[in-house]
Amino acid sequence: MTTSPTTLVFATQNAHKAREIAQILGPQYRILTLPDIGCTEEIEETAPTLEANALLKARYVKEHYGYDCFSEDTGLEVDALGGAPGVHTARYAGEAKDPEANIALLLNNLAGHDNRRARFRTVIACIFGQREALIEGVCYGRIAPEKRGTGGFGYDPVFIPDGYEQTFAELGEAVKNQISHRAMATEKFRLWLQNA
Ligand code: IMP
Repeated sequence: MTTSPTTLVFATQNAHKAREIAQILGPQYRILTLPDIGCTEEIEETAPTLEANALLKARYVKEHYGYDCFSEDTGLEVDALGGAPGVHTARYAGEAKDPEANIALLLNNLAGHDNRRARFRTVIACIFGQREALIEGVCYGRIAPEKRGTGGFGYDPVFIPDGYEQTFAELGEAVKNQISHRAMATEKFRLWLQNA
């Protein structure tokens, strides 16, 4: 017997993130994004931590649109830069949120550093009924000396996950979705949903 998919609202405008999470969750779930529920305004991410930004987005959607939902916020934390860009990952090189400029600045700031250790950290905030939860996923790795690969998005061309020699952009979606920060957080979220 086949059961119809459960619909979840994901508080994002980012089609890349929605696609990754939909693939990780599998066909039991149908993901609606903000444009799908008529929310086209930008929700300002003004909080000082990934956790608070994720909660802010989920609470905004619950309050203004009435949906149970989840959101996520991701940061790249680089050891030699004291954890930067962290919560400023999207706007590292300025308000334009330009991935090319962000990567160029990151490589420039790491020039001359031997320690290129870094991690991606994703925080998922979910609100279902009266329940709110924060769920974390981390992927450890290092920053490549230069951009490599064409897949993925954001900083994928310069992030080499532990256990691999290629960047996320070279490894492609299927591998990334098994080992990434977002995959780790989404798997925990899936288990949380089963008990929600
Ligand atoms: P936000 O979570 O939408 O605020 O994204 C923060 C920044 O991290 C943006 O510059 C994204 O492009 C980048 N980012 C988020 N997730 C990933 C990823 O999986 N790979 C590479 N970059 C990412």
